[in-house]
Amino acid sequence: MAIDKSLSLVLLLLWAMVLSSTINAASFMESQAEMEALLKWKASLLERQALSSWSLLPNANASTTQDSSPYNWTGISCNSAGRVTGISLHDAGLQGKIDNLSFSSLPNLAHIVLDQNALFGAIPTQIGTLSELVTLKLSSNQLSGSIPKEIGELKKLTMLNLSHNHITGSIPSSLGNLTNIVNLFISDNQISGSIPQQVGNLKFLDQQAAAANLLNGSLPATLGNMINLHFVFLCGNEISGPIPSEIGNLKKLMMFQVCANLLAGSIPSNLGNVTTLESLLLFENHFHGSIPPQIGNLYHFADLRLFENNLTGPIPPSLGN
Ligand SMILES: *[C@@H]1O[C@H](CO)[C@@H](O)[C@H](O)[C@H]1NC(C)=O
Ligand SMILES: *[C@@H]1O[C@H](CO)[C@@H](O)[C@H](O)[C@H]1NC(C)=O
Ligand SMILES: *[C@@H]1O[C@H](CO)[C@@H](O)[C@H](O)[C@H]1NC(C)=O
Ligand SMILES: *[C@@H]1O[C@H](CO)[C@@H](O)[C@H](O)[C@H]1NC(C)=O
Repeated sequence: MAIDKSLSLVLLLLWAMVLSSTINAASFMESQAEMEALLKWKASLLERQALSSWSLLPNANASTTQDSSPYNWTGISCNSAGRVTGISLHDAGLQGKIDNLSFSSLPNLAHIVLDQNALFGAIPTQIGTLSELVTLKLSSNQLSGSIPKEIGELKKLTMLNLSHNHITGSIPSSLGNLTNIVNLFISDNQISGSIPQQVGNLKFLDQQAAAANLLNGSLPATLGNMINLHFVFLCGNEISGPIPSEIGNLKKLMMFQVCANLLAGSIPSNLGNVTTLESLLLFENHFHGSIPPQIGNLYHFADLRLFENNLTGPIPPSLGN
């Protein structure tokens, strides 16, 4: 009995040792895979001076003799377990292919800030594996290809900025699954197709910018569900049809800019319910009918531009408000 007990204790200890070494080994392997993914990307870049600290050699400038690790690499942040959680290299002079970075090897990434570089290629579909991702800023690069539908899998994403690239294709309806998104910027690309009605699911969306693209189709009525919208920038597309009257539900809307499109119909009178509105840019469209007097309810107006439409009738005296 006593022998049995001590034997089982020894077995338990052995098991615990095996278990902990497996965990350490797994953690070590994960860390190795992260370093390899980053170094492989560095090696693939055509311009990478900013990444001179990304090296497995001990850092010559460091005060200790420890091995260098991503912990101290420029633009890299890690959690307490040493896993890479952020890449922050805004305007760092990087040139090369975005898809040579193996995102699936960096599963703890929460923030990717690589805007204002010269990155090209398409956003890889494996971006969808980053279940912790909160920020994705890739604006002002030379990215091409379309927005991968896998972006819709990033359930924690609050900021997506893909503006000022050469992105084509349409807006994937899966973007409607980004239910935590607050800022959505895809302006200055060549994105075509219509705005999917699923965007109406984005209840937390505060700013939507898709100006200067090739978007067509009509504005979805589900726009009225996006109750936290403050800013809508859609000027310079080919959007047609009327402004849905549901816009009257957007009680926080401050800027609604849809200039230079193919919008038609009359200006909805319930825009007068959106008392927060400061900027309403409707110019260069095909709106007809008269200016609704309810517009005069909008006491915060700083910018109202209606020129180059087919509007008729008198200027309502309420505008004097
Ligand atoms: C970069 O990715 C392309 C495929 O997109 C591949 O052909 C090329 O070998 C990669 N370059 C490096 C240095 O890994
Ligand atoms: C990492 O950075 C810290 C703080 O800047 C420094 O004290 C340490 O020596 C660095 N370690 C290595 C290995 O470079
Ligand atoms: C998104 O990127 C564009 C282009 O670089 C920039 O002008 C804009 O300020 C960015 N918006 C946010 C909220 O980062
Ligand atoms: C959105 O997510 C749900 C469940 O997570 C999934 O079934 C659906 O296919 C996704 N929609 C799109 C358009 O990707």
